[in-house]
Amino acid sequence: MNAIVVADQNWAIGREGDLLFSLPTDMKRFRSLTLEGTVILGRKTLDSFPGGKPLPRRRNIVITHSADLCREGAEIAPDPQAALELAAGTEPDRLWIIGGGSVYTALLSRCKRAYVTRVEAAAPDADTFFPNLDKLPGWEVESVSEPVTENGITYRFVDYINTKI
Ligand SMILES: NC(=O)c1ccc[n+]([C@@H]2O[C@H](COP(=O)([O-])OP(=O)(O)OC[C@H]3O[C@@H](n4cnc5c(N)ncnc54)[C@H](OP(=O)(O)O)[C@@H]3O)[C@@H](O)[C@H]2O)c1
Repeated sequence: MNAIVVADQNWAIGREGDLLFSLPTDMKRFRSLTLEGTVILGRKTLDSFPGGKPLPRRRNIVITHSADLCREGAEIAPDPQAALELAAGTEPDRLWIIGGGSVYTALLSRCKRAYVTRVEAAAPDADTFFPNLDKLPGWEVESVSEPVTENGITYRFVDYINTKI
């Protein structure tokens, strides 16, 4: 299982229910990595998608306390462990934790890799954060891409591996 995230230089990932940056090349990479796989996400992240709809061409497992939440194309899990149980049998490389902050925090230790898009900027007023993988025991950088610059923002794809599992 993998996590995938866009984080700024302070590991910030969101503000007021939305993303911090618009990065078209990153979005394409996210799509191509996760397509035809299974994604696990929190209800607030689902709400941030256009129309509150699940991602197409992926199995979407949404974690929520609301047993009656009904979104066409989404499966509901009452907690992170139940989401993993629903996803049991999925090929590990095709199982993705896609946020937000609460779901990353709950499931990161179960991930083998984290695909971090690391932005070289500090977003103002961020309210949601990813754990600092440079300080978390067991996590090591596996590869770092060349920088990409778009919309005036420079970022790199930094892949981390969890050596504890
Ligand atoms: N930069 C990135 O790559 C990235 C990716 C994804 C999201 N984000 C950002 O992250 C922010 C959202 O993160 P967030 O932490 O506020 O919300 P979230 O993790 O997306 O969703 C939180 C919701 O998930 C459900 N949930 C979480 N843990 C649960 C548990 N143990 N048991 C039952 N339900 C549980 C609850 O839903 P109910 O309230 O329905 O019970 C909770 O309110 C947004 O700003 C979003 O844009 C950034």
